[in-house]
Amino acid sequence: MTSGSRSAGLAGMVVGETRISTVGQEGHGLTYRGYSIEDLSSKSTFEEVAYLLIHDQLPNASQLADYRAQLVSMRALPPALKIVLEQIPSDAHPMDVLRTGCSALGTIEPEGGERSQEWVADRLTSSFASMLLYWYHFSRTARRIDETAGGDTIAEHFLTLLNGEAPSDLARRALDSSLILYAEHEFNASTFTARVVTSTLADQHSAIVAGIGALRGPLHGGANEAAMELQSSFSTEDEAETAVMGMLERRELIMGFGHRVYRDFDPRSAVIQEWARQLSEDRESMLLYDVAVRIDRVMKREKNLFTNLDFYSAVAYHHMGIPTEMFTPVFVIARTCGWSAHVFEQRADNRLIRPAGEYTGPMEREYVPIEQR
Ligand code: COA
Repeated sequence: MTSGSRSAGLAGMVVGETRISTVGQEGHGLTYRGYSIEDLSSKSTFEEVAYLLIHDQLPNASQLADYRAQLVSMRALPPALKIVLEQIPSDAHPMDVLRTGCSALGTIEPEGGERSQEWVADRLTSSFASMLLYWYHFSRTARRIDETAGGDTIAEHFLTLLNGEAPSDLARRALDSSLILYAEHEFNASTFTARVVTSTLADQHSAIVAGIGALRGPLHGGANEAAMELQSSFSTEDEAETAVMGMLERRELIMGFGHRVYRDFDPRSAVIQEWARQLSEDRESMLLYDVAVRIDRVMKREKNLFTNLDFYSAVAYHHMGIPTEMFTPVFVIARTCGWSAHVFEQRADNRLIRPAGEYTGPMEREYVPIEQR
């Protein structure tokens, strides 16, 4: 199949029904189970959204308190998983650490019996930060951190384990909002991958491992890391403009721009841009943000292309002290509840996903015995 063929990349094709989210539908924008992303990112918390996606409704106050407590209680890693994590070299990519950690946990605590699909979803959502930061500190300093420390939210847990101290209120709120923005996005590449794996009746860990693999590439989740590499390579806004003009002339992709579904703007981008601005001001370090804004303007002017969620997330994460190679793993922590909701939905009305390919190779070739070739 060539990239010009009508089904290349399945662009524009409806490949299934979902009740979980709308992406870019006229008049609806981005909604999770009918709630707008604008409301959720400004009024709710990540745990509320995770509960909404996993359990299909917003929690009331006591359900939320119980859910938070349950997630906190699921942070501890089994000793056997720690031994696996301790074997992974310090220069491994953190996405590979999460992929390995998820797979290993699936052998230690396989789904089934008392471990329901909802239990697995919550366990992974709660323990991905534990896995990542246990490995991070151990591989660098041989220190075995207490992976259960750090407040009662996913955002505080992650930032506390990363930096060894409680985060500022601004950093905590910004990360929480960013986790909401990254939590779910309909039939994107990694979610579709997870649904394909689920459609074979495989277990949930396999579906999430496959989702992590699909998310890793720079055309999908890896774009936030690639955006940071670009933004941080300039010392002035003018330098950034000249370099981006050169890249466009050479028809190079600028990571963090464009989208398969959105045509005019990504509704998540304005929310994260505002957090990026506030964090930059708080740090009294505006260069990265100013460079990003200039690149944004150049792309609008030259290509009429808009920033997607990944572009300003890079600036925001940088100012939260998150190392660049952990940007996509943060996306995993957020997206696990969205992937899981799709696993459940696929299972509830399953049919094996097995499309057909259009054959374009040679036909009717005569077989030549090996000794005559
Ligand atoms: N930088 C430069 N040009 C871009 C671009 C980008 N980030 N995104 C799209 N374009 C250009 C394409 O080259 C194409 O130009 P052409 O018509 O002259 O060939 C045109 O815009 C249309 O793009 P198209 O290839 O049809 O988009 P797509 O739907 O296949 O791809 C993405 C969507 C997201 C893969 C694509 O925009 C991209 O690669 N973006 C960068 C990676 C990224 O940020 N990914 C995260 C997505 S949330």
